[in-house]
Amino acid sequence: MIRRRAVVSALSMVLAVVLQSAVVMLAVALLPVGLAVRAADPSPSPAWTATPVAPAPGQPAGYIQYERMCAVCHGPGAGKPGTRALSAKYEGKVPALLEERKDLTADFVKFTVRHGVSVMPPFRKTELSDADLDAIAGYLARKRR
Ligand code: HEC
Repeated sequence: MIRRRAVVSALSMVLAVVLQSAVVMLAVALLPVGLAVRAADPSPSPAWTATPVAPAPGQPAGYIQYERMCAVCHGPGAGKPGTRALSAKYEGKVPALLEERKDLTADFVKFTVRHGVSVMPPFRKTELSDADLDAIAGYLARKRR
């Protein structure tokens, strides 16, 4: 009886050590991933749509905020719900990609983002600051040829 208890406690100690080192190894292995994501995006947003974006020279103002907060739904490709919905809504009369539209005004963009439309969620100021929204609205409404 005593011997069996000793075996059980020895086994559980071994198990605990193995589990602990597995957890430590996993944490060490994942650390560089977390650091890389943080380094690429110096001001991560708490919104669920947030995507880390690496800044690059020559990007227009507001591009990075747009990519971070909106491209998850408004990027190119049939898998993006915003692009798909707008292509159905306008049937090709205006581009389905917001970044290619020339008719967007900053006020319309800001109203839509703060209030949401259909499955697009409203963004609160705690998720997307006024300054970042101004930058996005300026980017989408910028004058282009
Ligand atoms: C969860 C997905 C999602 C995210 C994130 C999202 N949108 Fe949308 N957005 C949509 C969908 C879907 C529509 C189309 C709604 C409809 O059916 O009219 C839309 C519509 C819009 C429209 C209206 C366009 C028009 O002509 O009717 C604007 C402007 C817009 N989004 C801007 C943004 C901006 C700016 C962001 C980032 C801050 C953003 N959206 C983030 C899904 C999204």
